Amino acid sequence: MSDAVTQPRIPEWPMPRAEGCPFDPPPELRALTAEKPLARVRIWDGSTPWIVTGHAAQRALLGDPRVSVDERLPGFPHWHEGMAAAVDHRPRSVFNSDAPEHTRYRRIMTGPFTYKRVEALRPAIQKITDDLIDAMLAGPQPADLVEALALPLPTLTISELLGVPYEDHDFFQENAARGIAHDVSAEESMRTFGALNGYLVQLVAKKATEPADDALSDIAARVNDGDLTVPEAAMMGLGLLIAGHETSANMIGLAVPALLDNPGQLALLRDTDDPKVVAGAVEELLRYLGIIHGGQRRIAKEDIEIGGEVIRAGEGIIIELFSANRDAEVFPGPDLLDLGRPNARHHNAFGFGIHQCVGQQLARVELQVVYGTLFRRIPTLALAVPRDEIRFKHDRLAYGVYELPVTW
Ligand code: HEM
Repeated sequence: MSDAVTQPRIPEWPMPRAEGCPFDPPPELRALTAEKPLARVRIWDGSTPWIVTGHAAQRALLGDPRVSVDERLPGFPHWHEGMAAAVDHRPRSVFNSDAPEHTRYRRIMTGPFTYKRVEALRPAIQKITDDLIDAMLAGPQPADLVEALALPLPTLTISELLGVPYEDHDFFQENAARGIAHDVSAEESMRTFGALNGYLVQLVAKKATEPADDALSDIAARVNDGDLTVPEAAMMGLGLLIAGHETSANMIGLAVPALLDNPGQLALLRDTDDPKVVAGAVEELLRYLGIIHGGQRRIAKEDIEIGGEVIRAGEGIIIELFSANRDAEVFPGPDLLDLGRPNARHHNAFGFGIHQCVGQQLARVELQVVYGTLFRRIPTLALAVPRDEIRFKHDRLAYGVYELPVTW
């Protein structure tokens, strides 16, 4: 029974989280997929793609070559009108290509993000973190932890790694943030993308003639060698710049109220100097926080039988990674934050399969350093406002907090 008609009521996606439960997936989504790992939802353009929430079903589909990220295919479930409108203007990249085209881009992109190269950055990331915390402690109270630490830490790190001038951070942060809002219009989406893309095209051209010791210069060298076009190289740089600051920033900001809600767990993190305990805590927070909550977009290229349904060729698929991280079959007591959870690392927070996050090692090191430092250095850290006054990013593709007033 794969027909949309067989599902009694097709709810709208995205769905709101429950009032007062900012850390849990929408209850309506859970109810919808309680029996089966997938169901139909209706999105902004009236189409009714599948939404997949089960952990095993997600991994099966993310690893299936019949499932495509090619956003040009008719029936592709675009995030919003802006993304659909700009489809012919977006250069090809890891984000919208399948193997073997994807393999070519991905090989060029992964160089700076290997385990070894990222581990070598750990002392620099520790220094940035300590300096930012020093500056916050020296300033007035309350302080906004997002502005003081969560946003500048990953932005400084990725800017340094890519060779993007940090002075330009207001420009790229603002445009990136608008570009991933749920309500962005086609016009605004084109404008923010055009501005960011133009910026990266200029930077790539500069690095091609005046290379420095950074990742963007390595990418620009591939343009000189004829392996990449300038728009492809700019798109690569832009993808890394956006994915590299917004995500980690949300993980840092959102973890703080979640840990303050769970003082026993916070104490485990605050009182340890064992890097394994901190690394385990990072995996559990990646699982629990679910900052990528809008659903990864795919389309079936052939009929696929899964979870008692048939996804027909040409039908859209939304893979809602956060729900899989709360799948009770894999994670017992899934709604509990348990920093010692033995299998936390099996989360789908970085995706799965060939599109799995390029920057995951970098994100892990950033989060290990921040979570391992913040509560040890500021054991009295507390919210400066009641929890229900915190503004959560319900309307963004990446969930988090807009600001976080804190005292100590
Ligand atoms: C906690 C932080 C992060 C989270 C939760 C996260 C999550 C994800 C997820 C879920 C995907 C898979 C998307 C899909 O399959 O549709 C992804 C892909 C990607 N991420 Fe991350 N990410 C994080 C940090 C980073 C950082 C720091 C960078 C770069 C420096 C980065 C670069 C990328 C890139 C380039 C891709 C596309 C890979 C491909 O399509 O082959 N991410 N990320």
